[in-house]
Amino acid sequence: MSTTALIVAAGKGERAGGGLPKQYRLLGGKPMLRRAVQALASHPAISKVRVVIGSGQQALAQQALDGIDVGKLVEGGEERADSVRAGLSAIEGEAILVHDAARPFCPPQVIDRLLAPLEFFEGAAPVLAIGDTLARASDRLNEPVDRTGMVRVQTPQAFRLAALRSAYESWSGATPTDETTVARAAGLTVAAVEGDPALEKITTPRDFARAEEWLLSR
Ligand code: CTP
Ligand code: MG
Repeated sequence: MSTTALIVAAGKGERAGGGLPKQYRLLGGKPMLRRAVQALASHPAISKVRVVIGSGQQALAQQALDGIDVGKLVEGGEERADSVRAGLSAIEGEAILVHDAARPFCPPQVIDRLLAPLEFFEGAAPVLAIGDTLARASDRLNEPVDRTGMVRVQTPQAFRLAALRSAYESWSGATPTDETTVARAAGLTVAAVEGDPALEKITTPRDFARAEEWLLSR
């Protein structure tokens, strides 16, 4: 199956603070976006990588991706889902991996685990068990939530391209936060595969600090 990776990098990075949107900030001396792209581009099963960027970020993206073939940069939208939609209409191939630029460290084994089920399933996503206790955030934490069978869902997420496209076309709910949400609503079969702590999303300044430490300790 010919597989294209779609990396969404059109966010503003507001929770990360600072001037430059987080995907262009350096992590271990390299822009986070460049790391995310390289991690996917270097996998032998991925034939193409395309990147969705925010309007006005052309120069930043070109600089961050210097020397890497990502075809024409795609302009994203207001919400992550709008950026994914923009990417979906710009790419071709049989399978797609949708990935966040904010997850710069993707182990190749995760990609292996995601692509294998596409023979039998329409999609696959990496998941991790939840270690902490869950509760609804009412003021007294008096609403415990049963965490049995609950997982955290990461990216990249793999899909047969035509199936994900039609799932997005039929989506009518509020803005979804990932592709499994859209796929499930459309009745697609999505396999859960083992995720990886290295795929943790970088959201806050603290996440940046932790990622820098992790790079040094590797
Ligand atoms: N993203 C996108 N288009 C948007 C919003 C988000 O392509 N309109 C991308 C981000 O660039 C990121 C991924 O979706 O790679 C996950 O989003 P998130 O971590 O929320 O990033 P930001 O939206 O940039 O951060 P924040 O919510 O703190 O502003
Ligand atoms: Mg966001």
